[in-house]
Amino acid sequence: MDTTAGTLVKYKMVIDGEWVDSASSQHFESFDPFTGKPWALIPRGNAEDVDRAARAARKAFTSGEWPKMTASRRGALLRKLGDLITEKSKALAEIEVRDNGKLYAEMSAQTAYMAQWYYYYGGLADKIEGQVIPIDKPDTFNYTRFEPLGVVGAIIPWNSPLLLTAWKLAPALAAGNVMVLKPSEYTSASLLEFMKLIEEAGFPPGVVNVVTGFGPEAGTPLVEHPLVAKIAFTGSDLTGQKIYEAAAKGLKKVSMELGGKSPNIVFDDAEIDNAVKGAISGIFAATGQTCIAGSRLLVQESIHDQFVEKLVAFAKTAKMGNPMSMETQVGPVTNQPQYKKILSYIDIAKAEGVTTALGGAKATRPECGDGWFVEPTIFTGVKNSMRIAQEEVFGPVLSVIPFKDEEEAIAIGNDVVFGLAAGVWTQNMRRAFLMAEKLQAGTVWVNTYRAVSYLSPFGGYKRSGLGRESGQEMIKEYLQTKSVWISTAREVPNPFIMR
Ligand code: NAI
Ligand code: MG
Repeated sequence: MDTTAGTLVKYKMVIDGEWVDSASSQHFESFDPFTGKPWALIPRGNAEDVDRAARAARKAFTSGEWPKMTASRRGALLRKLGDLITEKSKALAEIEVRDNGKLYAEMSAQTAYMAQWYYYYGGLADKIEGQVIPIDKPDTFNYTRFEPLGVVGAIIPWNSPLLLTAWKLAPALAAGNVMVLKPSEYTSASLLEFMKLIEEAGFPPGVVNVVTGFGPEAGTPLVEHPLVAKIAFTGSDLTGQKIYEAAAKGLKKVSMELGGKSPNIVFDDAEIDNAVKGAISGIFAATGQTCIAGSRLLVQESIHDQFVEKLVAFAKTAKMGNPMSMETQVGPVTNQPQYKKILSYIDIAKAEGVTTALGGAKATRPECGDGWFVEPTIFTGVKNSMRIAQEEVFGPVLSVIPFKDEEEAIAIGNDVVFGLAAGVWTQNMRRAFLMAEKLQAGTVWVNTYRAVSYLSPFGGYKRSGLGRESGQEMIKEYLQTKSVWISTAREVPNPFIMR
């Protein structure tokens, strides 16, 4: 499967149940963000590989075991996969950490929890029920069937590779589809390791394929491939827009989760110590590299100074360093372009006239070594119109914005192009419900932040996305509805008029 080339682990990708090199035989390096050095070689897939994978998937969809399999059996395979994930979750987490630098403390919990998506959608597989419709025509039986779409292409980012794969793969397979997965060029290794579990669980060859490579070389051909019926994407809004445009040419279905600039709103009646922790988890957890980052902290004027003081004091204690250590709280940034992007946004914010209350530079602490670390950064005096408040930084950079009252909090909260999530900290119930109603976001958390579950729909308003992931309803994103009409009439009536 993988061999060692020098000191680098050399991976293969998976097409039609075979571990293969890319058609070009080329590889690219994957880096360990803590050391800043390459550790693995990943096949550099291109349009030819995508074509092979899409054909293999289509073949698996139309012939062989998969289309004959009962929904209950599909469910059983998914639950078996869940068991294998549970068994191997620590090893998977280690690969994730090595490749994306997120904390082992978080990734080991995440890879263990990830099994739930496979259990849940495994359970749902044989509960996809059509309806008998009491149709308004005599002697007619009308019913609906929910059928899979066929080949689904999934394009995955680097921040939580296996979890974001699960959100797509589990419902797509439960619904009877087949898949071609394209992981991020920065974090392909964990998905390739995960494919060993797909194999072990017993999915027929071609049902799940992985083509690794760069966005334009492997991602674009996947979106454009005529055999691909749907694209499920998580990543940046600009790439999402490009994919949507390309998918439109083939009239393909899309679902997209595209990041945000989420407001985390603290009212003066909040339990302050909890709200401080909520603000921290919103922006410094995962080094801020999360689509749901609470990157705009809206603080009510009356408590602004006192709150910022407590927040800075807490953030100052954050331990940086080796993401494998259970002590570490803020790890490195996943890739070098992202590291440079974060630092450039820090410069932009400073040029816009913000006040640096904490950090505001790359981290040079000895425990950070040669890794790509950015100091936890808190800017005050931020105006919502500034670029630092409008654009997704995807790093440990917090913009603090004061507000007067509920009305202003809602206005500022909604005054961005995104709408993925929002946090509200208050003890006032009326206020909690009001904010939950008025904030334009796919998820609103009150007195908590950064909670997700396989049971609850997740996705964005506005430029934060299309469609939802998780929960029962969303399986429909991987199904199409067929209406079947059966006449029991003895005679066909007047053929010249519509029935
Ligand atoms: P990206 O959105 O460009 O990449 C995500 C995935 O799309 C990767 O697998 C990539 O190879 C693929 N891709 C890129 N261009 C493509 C194309 N033209 N056609 C098909 N596939 C394509 O994100 P990137 O460059 O890794 O990060 C840039 C920014 O995106 C970050 O700074 C952050 O702001 C945001 N981001 C948001 C995420 C989220 O969870 N919403 C996750 C990762 C990044
Ligand atoms: Mg890497």
